[in-house]
Amino acid sequence: MRLDGLDAAAIDQGAALIAAGELVAFPTETVYGLGARADSDEAVAKIFALKGRPTGHPLIVHVADRAGAERFAATLAPVAVRLVDAFWPGPLTVIVARRPGVADAAAAGQGTIGLRCPAHPVAHALLAKAAEVGVPGIAAPSANRFGRVSATTAAHVGEEFGDALPVLDGGASRIGIESAIVDCSTGRPVLLRPGILTPGQIEEAAGEPLHDPDAAAPRAPGTLAAHYAPTAKLRVMTTDMLRTALQVLGAEPLRLAVYSRSIPSGVAPGVVHRRMPARPEQAAHELFSILRELDREGVPLIWVEEPPPGPEWDGVRDRLGRAAAS
Ligand code: TXA
Ligand code: MG
Repeated sequence: MRLDGLDAAAIDQGAALIAAGELVAFPTETVYGLGARADSDEAVAKIFALKGRPTGHPLIVHVADRAGAERFAATLAPVAVRLVDAFWPGPLTVIVARRPGVADAAAAGQGTIGLRCPAHPVAHALLAKAAEVGVPGIAAPSANRFGRVSATTAAHVGEEFGDALPVLDGGASRIGIESAIVDCSTGRPVLLRPGILTPGQIEEAAGEPLHDPDAAAPRAPGTLAAHYAPTAKLRVMTTDMLRTALQVLGAEPLRLAVYSRSIPSGVAPGVVHRRMPARPEQAAHELFSILRELDREGVPLIWVEEPPPGPEWDGVRDRLGRAAAS
């Protein structure tokens, strides 16, 4: 069921459904989320069931502001406060120590909790209205079946879960890949998942260097090697490899899609071609849409030219690498 996110009555309806323990999908500036009230284990169980997500994988809790975060956090380490102040509302999730007894199911029983205040006006309106009717936060993973490509439009959410699920439509997500996740629970910042914010931007706001995750770091299944998978097999190739492979194909018709920055369409006739944007923000914005579109073309194979080097491409490179690992 599509609800117009710009309609105040639809926001009221969404918030009422959330308050009643139902699921509502909603837009954020990164990707669409599949939301349930974070303080109800029964409501949160519906997310795991609908997504087919293993219950050991914790969810991010979305809050309207920093005061909302403080209801779920046992403490906000100074570095978490600096990051939240710099980037909220926005595409950053912080992992912090969890207040005992709150959001057990959302946190999958871990002693920590992931918190994010999204910048999308529809998400914000929903969180504010939900708070008004007694919902302290909305647990929401990306609105896709487990392991699949995330949804960046209301139509994508419909493709994943069918039309019965209420979805607030807020247009295409501006950023297009999920938030950067920084674990602050040990007091020093660890980047668990890259996003559109670069490590340099995060370090500048943190006032200290980022550390690599170690074996003791909390599990982040979005960081499973295989994730974000289209139905087609995806391969990431260097520019040279891709050019050579296409030359070898010659005029041989092969059912194949190519997503590349520097190889022009027409090089391999009959191949479905999409041009990767030159700017990382634009590439991130369209990445999941393109993967879904190429799946609809029915090609069994997608060859992707690797993104250029440089930290501003980390988020796109990470998602492509995991899509290829499936
Ligand atoms: O941009 C986003 O972050 C989107 C939108 C909807 O906000 N959400 C999203 O949620 O990507 P999800 O569930 O698809 O990915 C969240 C990731 C998962 O890999 C999860 O394991 C990790 O965050 N995570 C959540 N809570 C955690 C915790 N306490 N410790 C470690 N990792 C955690
Ligand atoms: Mg996800």
